[in-house]
Amino acid sequence: MPETAESVLKEFQPTDSEKAKSAICLLKSLLDAHVSSPEHFEMEDVMAISMGAIAAGSDTTASTMHSFCWHVLANPDIHHKLTAELLNAKLSPIVQYDEGIALPYFQACLKETMRLQPALPYNITRGATVNDTVLPGSVRVGVSAWVMHRDETVFGPYSRSFRPERWLEANDGRLKKMERCMFQFGGGSHACIGRHLALFELNKVLPQIFRQYEMELISPDKPLEHFTGFFYSQKGLYVSLRMRGT
Ligand code: HEM
Repeated sequence: MPETAESVLKEFQPTDSEKAKSAICLLKSLLDAHVSSPEHFEMEDVMAISMGAIAAGSDTTASTMHSFCWHVLANPDIHHKLTAELLNAKLSPIVQYDEGIALPYFQACLKETMRLQPALPYNITRGATVNDTVLPGSVRVGVSAWVMHRDETVFGPYSRSFRPERWLEANDGRLKKMERCMFQFGGGSHACIGRHLALFELNKVLPQIFRQYEMELISPDKPLEHFTGFFYSQKGLYVSLRMRGT
């Protein structure tokens, strides 16, 4: 990725080039900020923010899809229920967003994925008011979605297990509380600006894949390798795919 970022940056430099002048984009704003105040906003800052924006929009959604596939495929009962729902539903040849969000069991699997393995598990820090005390500006309070989503007082028992049913069994009061405490896209003024795009992709791509292919883990007994840097990343999801009906 650094190489790609560098080559795109070169195309935009200097910022008065024709290409840069005609562009209205994040990169141009960053380069303009650098030109107007190079000592405060260095090229390294331009690079870091550009790469952050690319990763924010791709690695997160990929991680969520990865987690979804793993949990569903590693649990044959869940896989079976999901497949039954998808095959019985009247879906367009390319699954539409409205169709995806109207599939109750699929929605439960997706929420349970984002609950158990939010793609950004690290602490999201903010200034804060705690028990009516406004903390000084230098104090940052961090909340980790990974931890918050395991709170049994909110999400019920076995909160460390993948159990989509918890979303279907919860009464209205509990469900509202669970929805309110979902923090996979952060919250407040810096909440994820790409969340609608991410949900759009997830609600189309995942039902499409599971409807279209018979899927099986190649090594069902081998746990998925994972590590947490800025994002939660996984490795080793090997799946055999076979187009249904072939
Ligand atoms: C499942 C997918 C995604 C997840 C889990 C996710 C998660 C997050 C989280 C937790 C934050 C920090 C929010 C906070 O500080 O309160 C964030 C911020 C951000 N996300 Fe996402 N994101 C996803 C997809 C996307 C996509 C598709 C894009 C862009 C196309 C995107 C762009 C951004 C940007 C630019 C920020 C910084 C917002 C700011 O600081 O004001 N994200 N995301």
